Amino acid sequence: MIILGIETSCDECSIALVEDGKKILSHVIATQIPFHAPFDGVVPEIASRKHVEWIRGVYKKAIFESGLTSSAIDGIAVTNRPGLSGSLIVGLTFAKALSMALEKPFIGIDHVLAHLYAPQLEFSIGYPYLGLLVSGGHSLICRVNSHDKVETLGASIDDAVGEAFDKVAKHLGLGYPGGKAIDQLARKGNPRAYLFPKANLYKGDHPYDFSFSGIKNAVVNQKDQFWDQTSDQSVQNICASFEKVAVDTLLKKVLKAAVETGIHRIVAGGGVAANTYLRNTLSALDDYETYYPSYSLCTDNGAMIAGLGYHYLIRGVESPLSETVYPRVPGFRKAYP
Ligand code: KG4
Ligand code: ZN
Repeated sequence: MIILGIETSCDECSIALVEDGKKILSHVIATQIPFHAPFDGVVPEIASRKHVEWIRGVYKKAIFESGLTSSAIDGIAVTNRPGLSGSLIVGLTFAKALSMALEKPFIGIDHVLAHLYAPQLEFSIGYPYLGLLVSGGHSLICRVNSHDKVETLGASIDDAVGEAFDKVAKHLGLGYPGGKAIDQLARKGNPRAYLFPKANLYKGDHPYDFSFSGIKNAVVNQKDQFWDQTSDQSVQNICASFEKVAVDTLLKKVLKAAVETGIHRIVAGGGVAANTYLRNTLSALDDYETYYPSYSLCTDNGAMIAGLGYHYLIRGVESPLSETVYPRVPGFRKAYP
C-alpha cells in the first residue's frame, strides 16, 4: 500500500511516498529556514505563504523521484495537529484536493505521534518503548504502547529543549535555528568549563517533568556578565557546557523512567535527536536497547507522516472532507491522543 505523506506544520514543506509504512520510495524536504533566519524564528505568515507557493512543486518532485505516477497512490496522510494553523491548513487543503482528484482516502495525522513513529521507518522496534520526543515544540517522555496508543509520562513545564537551544544560540549570535550550530561548536569545547545549574523536578505527581528556562537564563547571564573576552574558546565552551546540562537533564529523566517502568527500550525522535552528544550517549548505554532516526527523519518530514498514516488507512480509518486543523492538542497528561 503506497501512502503519500504531507508535512507542513511549521517551516518544512515535505512530501514523501512510503510503501507499507516502512519503505521510503521518495522523500522531498524543502526548508524555509533562509526566509525565517533574519527574524530569529519562524514567522507564521511567511511560513503559510511559502507552503502555498511550494507545495505543488514539492508534490511533483516527490512523484517524479519515486518513478511512479499519481495513480499508484493508495491513500494520503497529512499532518493536521499540532502546529501553526495557517501552515497546517495549506497541507490539509492540498490533501483534500488530492483525495478528491485521485478518489483515494486521506487521514489527518498527529505530528507528535509521527515523530515517535519515525524510527520505525528504519528499525523494527517492538512495543512498548519509551519515546523521548525532543524538538523545537516538544520535550516529552512517553510510554509508546503502539503507533497510536501513547501515554505521556513527563513533559517540559516551560521551554521545549529545542527552544532552549535556539534561544541560547540567538543570544550567542549563532543564527536561527541554532541547535545544529551549538552542536558543531560544542564538539570543539570543554563541557565542564561552565557549571550551569540542572533543574531537578522530582516532587509532586510528575516526577519525569523537565524545565529548561533556568538553564537557558543561566547561559544568557554567563554570556552577559562574565564573558571571557580573552579566551577564544569561550563560545565553544559555553556551547559544550550548555549542551551537556540540557542533554543530561533529558537522559537522567528517561533513565529514571526506564528503571521505574521496567521498559529498557528507549527511542529518541524530533529535531534535537540529531544532537551528537545525545546520540553518542544513547549509543553508549549498554544495558538498554536504544534507537534514534537518521538526520532527515529527526526533523520535520513527510515520510513519518506517510509511515504512520499507513497504519490507519490499512484499517479503513480515514478523515471526512470536513476534517480541520488543531494548532494545539490538549491533554498531554492523559493517554495520548
Ligand atoms: O522536529 P523539528 O524539526 O521541529 C519541531 O517540531 O519543532 O525540531 C527543530 C529543533 C530546533 O529547535 C533545532 O534547533 C533543533 O531541533 N535541532 C538540534 C539539532 N538539530 C536540530 N538541536 C540540537 N542539536 C542538533 N544537532
Ligand atoms: Zn516536529
